[in-house]
Amino acid sequence: MDAAPVTVTITGAGGQIGYALLFRIAAGDMLGPHRPVRLRLLEIPQGVRAAEGAALELQDCAFGLLRDVEVTDDPAVAFAGANRALLVGSRPRAAGQDRADLLAANAGVFGPQGAAIAAHAAADVRVLAVGNPANTNALIAATAAEGVPADRFSALTRLDHDRALGQLASALDVSPSHLRDVTIWGNHSNTQFPDVSHATVDGVPVVDALAQRLGGADAAVAWLDNVFIPRVAGRGAEIIEVRGSSSVASAANAVIAHVRDEARGTHDGWTSAALVSRGEYGVAEGLVCSFPVTSDGSGYRVVEGLDLGERVRAGLAASVAELAAERDAVLALGAL
Ligand code: NAD
Ligand code: LMR
Repeated sequence: MDAAPVTVTITGAGGQIGYALLFRIAAGDMLGPHRPVRLRLLEIPQGVRAAEGAALELQDCAFGLLRDVEVTDDPAVAFAGANRALLVGSRPRAAGQDRADLLAANAGVFGPQGAAIAAHAAADVRVLAVGNPANTNALIAATAAEGVPADRFSALTRLDHDRALGQLASALDVSPSHLRDVTIWGNHSNTQFPDVSHATVDGVPVVDALAQRLGGADAAVAWLDNVFIPRVAGRGAEIIEVRGSSSVASAANAVIAHVRDEARGTHDGWTSAALVSRGEYGVAEGLVCSFPVTSDGSGYRVVEGLDLGERVRAGLAASVAELAAERDAVLALGAL
């Protein structure tokens, strides 16, 4: 007998990331090769035609796992019975807008969507915010979703995590699959702190492997400080500069990996995701902060008890200060 279908709602489904995401979900990359899916595509009226076009193409792929696809501009319809909500659609930053304007515009998107999730989604719904500013958008949605436990909400920092793996694999000339226990701390912004202090490559501490390859411990620290951290934290801007628009396929790939590992379990160490803080590592409760996380298939949990050195603590504190400022800006708007 077939497994029960999972209803996946994707907002902004007519956009770039949506187009890169839908076909991989329908192919089983996210929830596995035995899990049928129903797709609910939410768009604003201007985006509905693009989402309808994607729906036609999904039909043309004749995916064995795809039960049905519905396109709508009504959040109540889109989130009805949703087991998974991928909040991709957001207001892009317009010319002349500052961060506060962007937060205000997105509060008007993620607040009502959080409320619609609480009113219409399945009891087991899990929500991932992708649209930027992702951490604070997740906070807005979680706050508006009265009755839905806070630990059902996360924001995407898996792309930053995978970017860090890519940079380390290249520097060490190994496959990324040999690396374990890298962490992205903080916000999905350039204040994030990519941390290799617990990371290993084939069981050897990454810092030792870098020292061996780069000619000593000082050279390894210099590479981490001057190349690795700014490269990973600034990669989103680098992609925008080189491509002319923000990352798409790599972002969709990170969404797939985030949900796959959350639903099917992490293996081989931890990954990174932004979760609603319960005070772990001194991060103020309620902020949506990236942590090292694992899942046994029932949801992400923060890996606790790691010894953070002074540099990691300072990097985390700086990024958490930015998250707190974003929360305060949204609070001042009355959106929390
Ligand atoms: P896009 O502009 O191509 O698509 C966004 C879509 O969202 C559009 O089709 C738009 O009509 C739709 N939309 C806007 N408001 C909506 C609403 N209220 N309800 C439903 N749909 C709505 O953008 P994209 O390239 O797909 O990127 C989407 C978001 O993801 C952006 O905010 C981008 O900055 C962010 N992003 C995040 C990460 C991450 O790692 N967290 C990485 C890359 C991009
Ligand atoms: C990314 O990390 O690629 C994006 O979040 C950048 C952006 O601002 O869209």
